[in-house]
Amino acid sequence: MGFTMGLNLLLLVAMVATNILSLYHLSSNLQSKPPVAPPVPDHLLHQLQTIRATINHLTRLQPPAPPAAATKKSTLSIPSDLLLYTHLSPIASSCKDHPDLLYQYMNYTPFSLCPSDSSVAESLILRGCHPLPRRRCFSKTPSSIPTSLPKTPFSTLPEKALLWNSYTCKSFTCLSQKNPNLGFDMKVEGSRFLGFKSDLDLPIPQFLQLTKSSKSVIRLALDIGGGTGTFAAQMKLQNVTVVTTTMNLGAPYSEAVALRGLLPLHVPLQQRLPVFDGVVDLVRCGHAVNRWIPLTMMEFLFFDVDRVLRGGGYLWLDHFFSKKADLEKVFQPLIWKLNYRKVKWAVANKNDASGVKNGEVYLTALLQKPVSR
Ligand SMILES: *[C@@H]1O[C@H](CO)[C@@H](O)[C@H](O)[C@H]1NC(C)=O
Repeated sequence: MGFTMGLNLLLLVAMVATNILSLYHLSSNLQSKPPVAPPVPDHLLHQLQTIRATINHLTRLQPPAPPAAATKKSTLSIPSDLLLYTHLSPIASSCKDHPDLLYQYMNYTPFSLCPSDSSVAESLILRGCHPLPRRRCFSKTPSSIPTSLPKTPFSTLPEKALLWNSYTCKSFTCLSQKNPNLGFDMKVEGSRFLGFKSDLDLPIPQFLQLTKSSKSVIRLALDIGGGTGTFAAQMKLQNVTVVTTTMNLGAPYSEAVALRGLLPLHVPLQQRLPVFDGVVDLVRCGHAVNRWIPLTMMEFLFFDVDRVLRGGGYLWLDHFFSKKADLEKVFQPLIWKLNYRKVKWAVANKNDASGVKNGEVYLTALLQKPVSR
């Protein structure tokens, strides 16, 4: 650890020194009269070689990370990629913590086809390296494109309109058969957010009734961690525009959202929401926002949600899960820091295998931001 830090420091010092030297080189060239092509001084070359050697060394020091898809084996344990949210990175500073991945990502031939490395990009983003550096190569595209609009956002997804090579499954049918709850089976999705099975559910008609009765219009919403975009799809039928943030963890979620005629944002949870202050009427946090997120990061997330919500806007925590004791001692006080009005607050035991094993509960809450602060 100390060794790596030392090397980082060395790298920094070398970079600063090189920059000062280049500046000196430039300014001394400006002063000299004959415009001869300047030779690169030996000491500058030496500095560059030191930097390259240090980067190579750092690259070898870090063990290569497993590809994102390979780490998603058991559904009961925490997906290792989600644990990576522990890296709090407000300004993409964690790119430098993963020189191996970054090196791999930037190792391409300019002006030709990009390598098939979307999983590398995904891994970097999940590790807090976002936005990624731009590249000058061409992304591969599928040879088949849809020729007509989807009839509804619940129409069967066209199988051939995306590249399947980074995924284990090669079709939406395969994904639906593997797990009908992933969001790719449109027969299942058609009824989501409409039914009321327990107090944890807040059907969209009831939500809209609630907002209407408090004279609060819902035009625009953000769905954080919205999977294949079904919330946006249901809201579209109500003429509400919803932008879905989604990652491509093991399946083509972004493409599915887009094929439904909805807008997917490829943004990780630790990223500042790319929306201006006070412009959104509703933010919904689905399953992705739960106890796996480190507390400090969650606090930043909720305060960023507050920033983008307009006065009187709503925060909807949908099936947020945590250990029962933590909800009372940790998360409830955190949520109440926002000083929102409690429109709905329902807690119930999480009855699946991991929920029972870990003594977890679900919380579904609808909270209203104060109209003015
Ligand atoms: C949505 O807008 C369309 C076109 O203006 C309208 O016909 C329809 O009734 C609206 N639906 C709802 C639920 O407001």
